[in-house]
Amino acid sequence: VRTSAGPHVLPHLPLVRGTGVALHRQLFDGLRRAIVDRLLRPGGRVPSTRALARDLGVSRLTVLTAYDQLLHEGYLEGRAGAGTFVSRALPDDALRAAPLRRARAAAAAEPTARPARTADAAPPPRRDDERGMRTFRVSLPALDLFPHATWARLVSRQARALTPAMMAYGQPAGLGVLRAAIAEHLRTSRAVRCEADQVLITSGSQAGLRLCAAVLLRYGDAVAVEEPGYPGARSAFEAGGARLAPVPVDDEGVDVAALAALGPHVRAAYVTPSHQYPLGVSMSAARRLSLLEWADRQRAWVIEDDYDSEYRYVSRPLGALQGVDPAGRVIYVGTFSKVLFPALRVGYLVVPPQLRQAFMDAREALDLFSPTLYQLALADFLREGHFVRHLRRMRTVYQGRRDALLDGLARHCADAVTVHNAEAGLHVSTWLRDAIDDVALVKRMHEHRLTAIALSTCYTGPAPRGGLLLGFGGSTERQLRAATRTLGELLDGA
Ligand SMILES: Cc1ncc(COP(=O)(O)O)c(C=O)c1O
Repeated sequence: VRTSAGPHVLPHLPLVRGTGVALHRQLFDGLRRAIVDRLLRPGGRVPSTRALARDLGVSRLTVLTAYDQLLHEGYLEGRAGAGTFVSRALPDDALRAAPLRRARAAAAAEPTARPARTADAAPPPRRDDERGMRTFRVSLPALDLFPHATWARLVSRQARALTPAMMAYGQPAGLGVLRAAIAEHLRTSRAVRCEADQVLITSGSQAGLRLCAAVLLRYGDAVAVEEPGYPGARSAFEAGGARLAPVPVDDEGVDVAALAALGPHVRAAYVTPSHQYPLGVSMSAARRLSLLEWADRQRAWVIEDDYDSEYRYVSRPLGALQGVDPAGRVIYVGTFSKVLFPALRVGYLVVPPQLRQAFMDAREALDLFSPTLYQLALADFLREGHFVRHLRRMRTVYQGRRDALLDGLARHCADAVTVHNAEAGLHVSTWLRDAIDDVALVKRMHEHRLTAIALSTCYTGPAPRGGLLLGFGGSTERQLRAATRTLGELLDGA
């Protein structure tokens, strides 16, 4: 006997009084039609007679009479102690009925009726689910090594302890405990100068960038972006109505002289100083200072996207640009997508105190606040030391994965691929031999269940040369070695 049959569904049963057709007969017809048209599926539980009578506003006797008839004709079956169910073995004449014809007739009789679904099975797996996990996927952390059991324990502990206050509307800035834990982490590990009340929780850093556009830029304002740069930032600013002003990047980071030459109409500059996206360079100390001077002089804002600075393999990381900004012109953007997992959708902004209220107003206008349960669990994850432990463990793992990728590229792709930068983060940036079209190559990689980002898609204008961004965070060393072999074969044919 199945005792956990799941909740019952109340079918749509329009009963009309005064038509001369008895209510129990209308109910019998309605339920039988729902079963035959497969709106109610075999094995599904139907409401108890008491519940259905109450919901429909009819006597229990009416429902009992209809159910008796359906049981008698084999449309329903009763299971002792468990309830009443749609029969698993439906009467022959019901099965012979053509559901589509009946559905059409029902739709004609009643304009709001939905057509019956024809398949019982679970939806087929989505192709894009699998695509998001392919070898070389950029921005993917080691999801296979995420401390699942710990996370599940923290989430379920918080879910069980949720108070009514925690289930109500929350603050646009996010939960104080989480903001305090993030502020502490940023002060110690990134030399960010901040207090908890400058931290705003966002739905990933993408939402943080969108908020920057909403608060800092008016329609038509110019925002400087790195060329090449992160396409997601460009779209966040464009969605806010801003105009993009591309500024070239060289070995020291964004070219501040070129930025200054754009003139006074540039209201903000978006930069990735720790690990330039996509080329990988770290902005030099001299550039950092001249960028901050530019912002102060121009009364413009600097949006610092510190998306994956936790991992550095070659030298010690420079602290955040925000930490050396005396004038309060920097908005710092961070995320847990690369250090925990992207589907968490938790990121944060650190804003100068004078902008705090404007950011909170914009957040409230956008989507009010981030889900409280995940914020609570994440605060525990940070405060109980799991986060630091995970980061430490991942550094060694990523070093191994990076080395496997570099080794594979050297073995199988050296003729066509030059590694440009592999010093930090979760991907390496590479150049391709002159004639190779990076977009076409990525298409071919998709056919072989690989992926990558074509460097040329990171330029607003023409790219000087094709290249690939190859992620290593989300794939094992073995997968990376095998994938570089496949890439080498594709390049031989290119
Ligand atoms: C440079 C950069 N910024 C921001 C993001 C957005 O990350 P999320 O919205 O998941 O925090 C990404 C994601 O890949 C990125 O590469």
